[in-house]
Amino acid sequence: MSNNNTRENFGSKIGAILAAAGSAVGLGNIWRFPIETGQNGGAAFILIYIGCVILLGIPIMMSEFLIGRHTQANTAGAYRKLAPGTPWRWVGRLGVLSGFVILSYYSVVAGWTAEYTILAIGNAFEGKTTADFPAIFTEFVSNPWKSVFWMLAFMIITHVIVTRGVKSGIEKFSKLMMPVLFVILIILAICSVALPGASQGLEFLLKPDFSKITGSAILSAMGQAFFSLSLGLGCLCTYASYFNQETNIGKTALSVSLIDTFVAIMSGFIIFPAVFNAGYTLDSSDIGPSLLFITMPNVFGQAFGSIPALAYIVSVLFYFLLVLAALTSTISMHEVVTAYVSEEFAMSRRKAATLVTLSCSIVGVVCALSFGPFEGVKIFGMTIFDFFDYTASNFMLPIGGMLIAIFTGWYLDKKIVRDEITNNGTLRAPYLPLIIFILKYIAPIAIACILLGQIGIF
Ligand code: PFF
Repeated sequence: MSNNNTRENFGSKIGAILAAAGSAVGLGNIWRFPIETGQNGGAAFILIYIGCVILLGIPIMMSEFLIGRHTQANTAGAYRKLAPGTPWRWVGRLGVLSGFVILSYYSVVAGWTAEYTILAIGNAFEGKTTADFPAIFTEFVSNPWKSVFWMLAFMIITHVIVTRGVKSGIEKFSKLMMPVLFVILIILAICSVALPGASQGLEFLLKPDFSKITGSAILSAMGQAFFSLSLGLGCLCTYASYFNQETNIGKTALSVSLIDTFVAIMSGFIIFPAVFNAGYTLDSSDIGPSLLFITMPNVFGQAFGSIPALAYIVSVLFYFLLVLAALTSTISMHEVVTAYVSEEFAMSRRKAATLVTLSCSIVGVVCALSFGPFEGVKIFGMTIFDFFDYTASNFMLPIGGMLIAIFTGWYLDKKIVRDEITNNGTLRAPYLPLIIFILKYIAPIAIACILLGQIGIF
């Protein structure tokens, strides 16, 4: 059981915003968003994505925030407190399980970004041809030791930061690293937009062609909004349990969503002008999952090749940006599970974090090896890594998000909702009825459509 007397809080408003934004900003923005945008028609997809963030993302984020801050408990404890003796406690538990699963496989890709940062620092991409990059990547991921080593390294850094606690670990790291991340992002976007031929990339990002929008593009935009905003697994609920009573929930949700969307769009500005400049077409598989590790190192070499020092700096900064973005997200997933274990099983933070790190590492090793020795092990025709990714992002997060919306919209006492959003009547919140309407009707129906779409019914 949680003991609120010993619970830490974020020390400042900006610390709380940057920590939550750190959770949201991750590989989902710099890797998944450009891929989805590339595959779904560019600017029109981005507009629909922004619509999903406003219509679904912000209300569900506010819902996670108010549940967390009101209960000041881990996500499973929060539902137990608000709906004692009901099956609602399973919503929190599902979140903890999702956090565990996503952290395990996300750390594998996060580890790759660390390896590629080291490769970039060692100037390993210079002089390589287009044909070399797939081989470098395949050789790397199928090497069991390297993959496992980097996954474990990432898990250990995450562990160290989480163990230091909310204020001196998570908040301090986010306040230090998020500004660094923004600066790198802007430098890279300027470099890319200044490339000759960048206009084709800019046009792709800015000129909507709605004929490219299909039902499946809309479903992808909704799914991407969930993943990118870290919704549906109680991550933001856990962070909000460390908000103080002055934190403005509506403003914080708006700030986090704006930052997250800004980073995603900026990543588009980094990637597309450079990709077009290097002569890639978006129809090819270059904009698939291999984007960051096969296409981009090659793109940087080609686009900035006339000034090798610039190509070098851009590559190093790009992979370092990915490491930072991934790390602030792995910290948040680790915290969901650590807070749960520590509070529900009355364990010290250090002990709980160690248990989480050890168990996630074991699953992480299995995920890492699914690119090498375990490649042949298939679950429903997918490798272990793909199965976890598919199940978590396509089912666990949307189901979690839908249940959170239904819980706040239908079950939770509206006085609690009002008091939390208005800080006990001290803030104005004329938008509240609209938020409740969305949580009651629009979000559950829209998410049900995503889920039916996933299983091919809709
Ligand atoms: N939002 C993160 C990203 O965009 O990479 C991923 C993520 C983090 C998903 C935390 C869910 C979560 F709870």
